[in-house]
Amino acid sequence: MQKKFTAFLFLLLLLAACKSSQKNTSTTPVINAYNYSGVKKVIAENGAVVSAHPLASKVGVEILKMGGNAVDAAIATQLALAVVYPNAGNLGGGGFMVARLSNGETVALDYREMAPGSAHRDMYLDANGNADTDKSQLGHLSSGVPGTVAGLFASHKYAKLPFEKLIQPAIELAEKGFVISASEARGLNNIKNDLVKYNTVRPVFVKNTAWQKGDTLVQKDLAGTLKRIQQFGAAGFYEGETARLITEEMKRGTGIISTEDLKNYKAKFRTAHSFDYKGYKIVGMPMPSSGGLLLHQMMKMIEDKNISAMGFHSLQAVQLMTEVERRAFADRAEYMGDADYYKVPVSMLTNEVYLQERMKSYDPAKATPSTMIKPGGLLQTESEETTHLSVIDKEGNAVAVTTTLNNSYGSRTVVGGAGFFLNDEMDDFSIKPGVPNMYGAVGGEANAIKPGKRMLSSMTPTIVLKDNKPYIVVGTPGGTTIPTQIFQTLVNIIEFNMSAEDAVYKSKFHHQWLPDEIMTEKGFPAAVKEALQKMGYSFSKERGGIGRTEIIKVLSNGKFEAVADNRGDDAAEGW
Ligand code: DON
Repeated sequence: MQKKFTAFLFLLLLLAACKSSQKNTSTTPVINAYNYSGVKKVIAENGAVVSAHPLASKVGVEILKMGGNAVDAAIATQLALAVVYPNAGNLGGGGFMVARLSNGETVALDYREMAPGSAHRDMYLDANGNADTDKSQLGHLSSGVPGTVAGLFASHKYAKLPFEKLIQPAIELAEKGFVISASEARGLNNIKNDLVKYNTVRPVFVKNTAWQKGDTLVQKDLAGTLKRIQQFGAAGFYEGETARLITEEMKRGTGIISTEDLKNYKAKFRTAHSFDYKGYKIVGMPMPSSGGLLLHQMMKMIEDKNISAMGFHSLQAVQLMTEVERRAFADRAEYMGDADYYKVPVSMLTNEVYLQERMKSYDPAKATPSTMIKPGGLLQTESEETTHLSVIDKEGNAVAVTTTLNNSYGSRTVVGGAGFFLNDEMDDFSIKPGVPNMYGAVGGEANAIKPGKRMLSSMTPTIVLKDNKPYIVVGTPGGTTIPTQIFQTLVNIIEFNMSAEDAVYKSKFHHQWLPDEIMTEKGFPAAVKEALQKMGYSFSKERGGIGRTEIIKVLSNGKFEAVADNRGDDAAEGW
């Protein structure tokens, strides 16, 4: 039965590749795991998927064509990403799904990792009380209990096709292999030393010679894990053989995830964090992600400022957005964490009077310095190793998923015999008050480690409704830059009237309160930077790329404009 389905799916893929009369406006890509390419933009009538990898986007669209809805496609795309995008796609990490269903229901699903039962507040402090970020960022001890598989099964209640079908393309890709790109080869070569250091069983990702573009990556152990999930459901991961492999890996590497932790993990349905902005309804993720709340604060702090008259990348607009970003992130450090463990004052933080009060210190003529606690250096990295996918279907379902291992390839530890990377999400907790995490974010009590608690995230999967219908589906990786990138992308569209492409591709900037500096991306106007410096702003080193935003915008004629970020191998597919 499974074999028949696979043959059918690949026949469909082949037919799609050969067909010249596709309904989207892109040239039809060759769909084949050994010879494929992706496009950055499609206009489609029936449905669209945008993700970090061409093969994953293609799998998602084929599922739509087979009668699946946007949730089916999002599940299959995530599973495919766990194979073809091992630096962020995952079984060993966690994520968030925001959906708006055709019946008008909004869904916010939390499958964030949680601290193991024997985790404790000071577990990353050495004998002198100093934070040891090596331990929170690398190797077995840096992993939270993975949430992804539980999340996929929880979301499946909104899907139409059997889970066994949705996972089959991922099994094929793992078992038969796929050809890797230049950036994937580079990624694997860059972490070779860590892979040797942080693994107890040599993973398939380590080769004697360097990886090269065009090499085929076959992942038999991962295929085995996926098959156990296919056969036994979530128990194929959280119990039985896979759970045994995880706990044995923990013992060999002195990690602390236990059989009980795995068995007890639950994805949680939450109430979406929604708010109105000039007639649009913006639907986002609540705690334990700070994304929805930060976006809310930032949008509301500019709402009465007539930013469209200031103009895109004008000195005034950039300065206003910087000040707004700074204020929201100051609140993040103090007040935000897993609301199941810490009372997050959401209504106070979004109260109009509070936000107006917050903006009283905003001076359009000069920088408002960030109140100093220990400022940390931002991680100066080009890698964007969380991943976002946006999906829409013709029935009116829209799905935004952001999922992560935290750092690129997570903890760098692969579960021996099971073939997947474990996350290093524990670093997203505040491991010591005031000590910055790998994204430079600081925190305190609200985000302190407790057993069972979920670490604060910045992931911001977002759906914007216009006239009560999906209008924009968007999200991005990028650590703490995620909420500010989504903020800027939405302002670009809603206030500066940009196309989806421009809104994503134009250069971005970022301020997160501490460190007190603006991070800019290549292409940021030099004259604006100079003028801001004169006003008292400091800048960190320019970055080649910030974020990998995947967006779908519904056009006035009802068609879907799906745009993949041009900062990576990301690809859009539609039909
Ligand atoms: O949940 C978070 O906010 C982070 N773990 C996301 C990490 C990320 O986006 C990595 N990309 N640079």
